[in-house]
Amino acid sequence: MSQQPTNHGHASQAVKRRQGTVQYDHSGRVILVTGGCNGIGRAICDGFATSGATVVCADIDTNLAESLPPGIHFRKTDVALEADCQSVVDWTVSQFGGLDVLVNNAAIQPASSYVRIEDVSRDDYNRMVAINLTGFAFMAKYGLKAMRQQQSGVLVNIASGQAHRTSRGVPVYGPIKAANVLQAMQWGVEYARDGIRVVSVSPGAINTPLVQAILEQQGGEKELANRHPLGRLGQPEEIAHAVLWLTSSAASFITATDLAVDGGLGGFGSFADPYPKQ
Ligand SMILES: NC(=O)c1ccc[n+]([C@@H]2O[C@H](COP(=O)([O-])OP(=O)(O)OC[C@H]3O[C@@H](n4cnc5c(N)ncnc54)[C@H](O)[C@@H]3O)[C@@H](O)[C@H]2O)c1
Repeated sequence: MSQQPTNHGHASQAVKRRQGTVQYDHSGRVILVTGGCNGIGRAICDGFATSGATVVCADIDTNLAESLPPGIHFRKTDVALEADCQSVVDWTVSQFGGLDVLVNNAAIQPASSYVRIEDVSRDDYNRMVAINLTGFAFMAKYGLKAMRQQQSGVLVNIASGQAHRTSRGVPVYGPIKAANVLQAMQWGVEYARDGIRVVSVSPGAINTPLVQAILEQQGGEKELANRHPLGRLGQPEEIAHAVLWLTSSAASFITATDLAVDGGLGGFGSFADPYPKQ
């Protein structure tokens, strides 16, 4: 009996089929993105700007801010500071008349945090809690208040595949990302009757400066890519597309839930890299 040809056998003769495309119209809307100077946040800023929105990028890095295109408004913000969170929300609302979308994206994952819990430094611990957890909460505190006044809005927490499954070396980052998912569910339920939707997005490994900085801890790019069924790292734009959709009226019945954008990683059931071979 002849064997079924493999996918690769087919691939050589396959005629390229058309892929569908989507175009979003966010014109007239006001969007605030934290950590928008780099990586995923930058792609989200660019995506909204291209679809016609007014975009405010709240980031701590003034050097990177110089590379933002003129249409994206930069506000120096440290999301670990409650006063900065309040100030950027107030400025956005006073400057542009409202806040339609807040994307909680700014987070850190220092290479030095890839250790067991017993070796996590106080500084790494405190910084991850302050930025990745408290920062999301402070931004939501002022963002949701502004949205409640206008009785509309969408908040997106950028969580992670590491929110949903275990992996060695992320004893603080992983649990905080899980909290980002629960924050979105909690706030989504709490604000549902105020015309506000809250969702989280959980990316797999995306090719950003954050991931480039910890490739060694993940066994290298090939190894990390191979852990995803699609066999590659994701691109920041692939997360931005999900955010553009989730915050549009096309997703109007979606709230208090999480969307995985992870190249099939969740289907594998584990993010964990294999234990070293004996
Ligand atoms: N890259 C990935 O593979 C991946 C996977 C899952 C989840 N995520 C999540 O996606 C989000 C973005 O990650 P990324 O890979 O684009 O990161 P990145 O390091 O490339 O960019 C992060 C941005 O946040 C800014 N930032 C850092 N501290 C800040 C602070 N205190 N206040 C304001 N801004 C601050 C940085 O200046 C930078 O512009 C994070 O929430 C991260 O946890 C990333």
